[in-house]
Amino acid sequence: MLARLLTRAIDAQAVWTRPWGDLVHRFLFWLFQKLPGVRDLLIGRWLGHPLHPVLTDVPIGVLFLVIVFDVLGNVGAATVALAFGILAMVGAAAAGLADYADTDGKARERATLHGTLMVVTLLLYLVSLAIRLASGSVASSGAIALSIVAFLLLSAAAYVGGDVVYVLGNMVSRHAWRGAGMRWIELVPAELEPNGTIPEGRPVKAKLGINQLVLVRQGERILALHDTCAHAGGPLSEGPLVEGTIECPWHASRYELEHGHVVRGPSVYDQPAYDVRPRQGGGWEARRQPA
Ligand code: FES
Repeated sequence: MLARLLTRAIDAQAVWTRPWGDLVHRFLFWLFQKLPGVRDLLIGRWLGHPLHPVLTDVPIGVLFLVIVFDVLGNVGAATVALAFGILAMVGAAAAGLADYADTDGKARERATLHGTLMVVTLLLYLVSLAIRLASGSVASSGAIALSIVAFLLLSAAAYVGGDVVYVLGNMVSRHAWRGAGMRWIELVPAELEPNGTIPEGRPVKAKLGINQLVLVRQGERILALHDTCAHAGGPLSEGPLVEGTIECPWHASRYELEHGHVVRGPSVYDQPAYDVRPRQGGGWEARRQPA
């Protein structure tokens, strides 16, 4: 009940989060396209896990400590914690902005609300820090009140950010619930050459039970990945082949054809890869490679 009310309130912000988000997104998309190495570092491709949720715990914990130190009357410790919390917020924000650059639709609207609330929070914390530094060892009630209001806003922003992941599945692997399965299953390519072979040098769709794969034939070898991009579900079979990888047509993640390893973001997850072999009696069969 409460969640439904909050969701309605969040989605009512679309009148401004949509246009504002589109504008900010255009700039960030342009920026991170120019800096793919920085983008991959910030999203956490090197970690195989989104970096933003790892970093956000630090400022939330440290900024809560500011309230604890204020209550205990330890002005110096509160000021140090606040300065550290602000720095941690900036680091977490950088990772969040890299995620945001490849976020679409409703997830982008809610991420825009999340980010805007975080910016307001950061400004309140900066004002609080400035007042504390100006007032020295004397506790300023204005600075303390600002920190408390900022922490409430921070919690609200974190709630919206959680929605982006847990409700809308942004940055969640599209294959999170797909089991490995060790059985060989008949593989049915969507197209064949007149001589019965799989076309070479371009991606070809295929059915493997309920799964859709993308095949790339290299001579006698047939390389196969799941067709649904792990990042946000783009159709890999519609993307180009680039130096032993296939590039997603939606946000340009690249996966190595042999084992599905992600070699360029925004995906941070490997793509399920499949072994393919000739089937007795003709045709092909495939099974998923172990993770
Ligand atoms: S859906 Fe985003 S890179 Fe494929």
